Amino acid sequence: MVRRARPAILLIGHGAMAAEVRAAALSTGLFDVGAVLVRHEKVGSVGAELNGYKVIDSLDELDFEPVLAAECASHSAVRQYGPGLLRLGIDLVIASIGALSDEALHRELEAAAAIGGAKLILPAGAVPGIDALNAALQGGLERVSYISRKPPAAWKGTPAESKLDLDTLDRAETFYTGTARAAARDYPKNANVAATVALAGLGFDATEVRLIADPAAGGNMHEIEAVGAFGRMQLSIEGKPLSSNPKTSSLAAYSTIHAILNRVRITEI
Ligand SMILES: NC(=O)c1ccc[n+]([C@@H]2O[C@H](COP(=O)([O-])OP(=O)(O)OC[C@H]3O[C@@H](n4cnc5c(N)ncnc54)[C@H](O)[C@@H]3O)[C@@H](O)[C@H]2O)c1
Repeated sequence: MVRRARPAILLIGHGAMAAEVRAAALSTGLFDVGAVLVRHEKVGSVGAELNGYKVIDSLDELDFEPVLAAECASHSAVRQYGPGLLRLGIDLVIASIGALSDEALHRELEAAAAIGGAKLILPAGAVPGIDALNAALQGGLERVSYISRKPPAAWKGTPAESKLDLDTLDRAETFYTGTARAAARDYPKNANVAATVALAGLGFDATEVRLIADPAAGGNMHEIEAVGAFGRMQLSIEGKPLSSNPKTSSLAAYSTIHAILNRVRITEI
């Protein structure tokens, strides 16, 4: 494998978040996107769209040593490429963290990382305080809860539709209270933040999740509350989505970029 002068990453996916990562490579000048990994049937169209990038559909085509791989694609991409990359000794930043609610897959990834001597890197994504929550775990956490509050229309296409009339709702309604594991299973498209909070804190079975449809919510709001030996924290964020994908918070993309920059710059923050 070729070692490049400037560190290069393997980028998995070519959607909204991946576009932000490519833009950050150009604007910071601190890393290159050495290759973009896409589904087999997309190689031609993405190759034409991303002129100048090497577009591949298999890890067998990797002809350089990536400083890390950044998954910005889907739960299925984590399953498809994660174990292979980690076994090759390539660190993997995962945006689709909800995939780790599947315990068997999480174990498989950790086993592959142990074999390859690689790391699975979980960025904070769309929410604040994940570093503090994970640090607080060292002193002992008593309770961690996560509330996701979105406008009713944002819950369309989920089981919330069978619990509430999302078209006529005129006040905030909680339609799900339960564990992060069941929330990730039943609301997979909203699983990333619940999974991140669970993995940083008390785990999927002890993290309480509430999902709320709120006509007054201006956007996608996340609240995290934690109590433990460290004290108590209550954090909330109303994130702006990426214009290219209203389902993805811009902070989630910046958080993946932050993880890449931490690998390539001298000072880690
Ligand atoms: N951690 C967080 O807080 C957080 C927040 C928002 C989004 N996300 C996740 O980040 C991921 C990317 O988000 P996005 O806004 O860029 O999505 P997007 O839909 O705009 O783009 C996803 C891209 O990945 C490609 N893709 C999907 N499966 C693939 C596979 N198996 N192999 C190769 N390419 C594949 C798709 O073709 C598409 O181009 C999503 O899984 C999303 O759920 C995480």
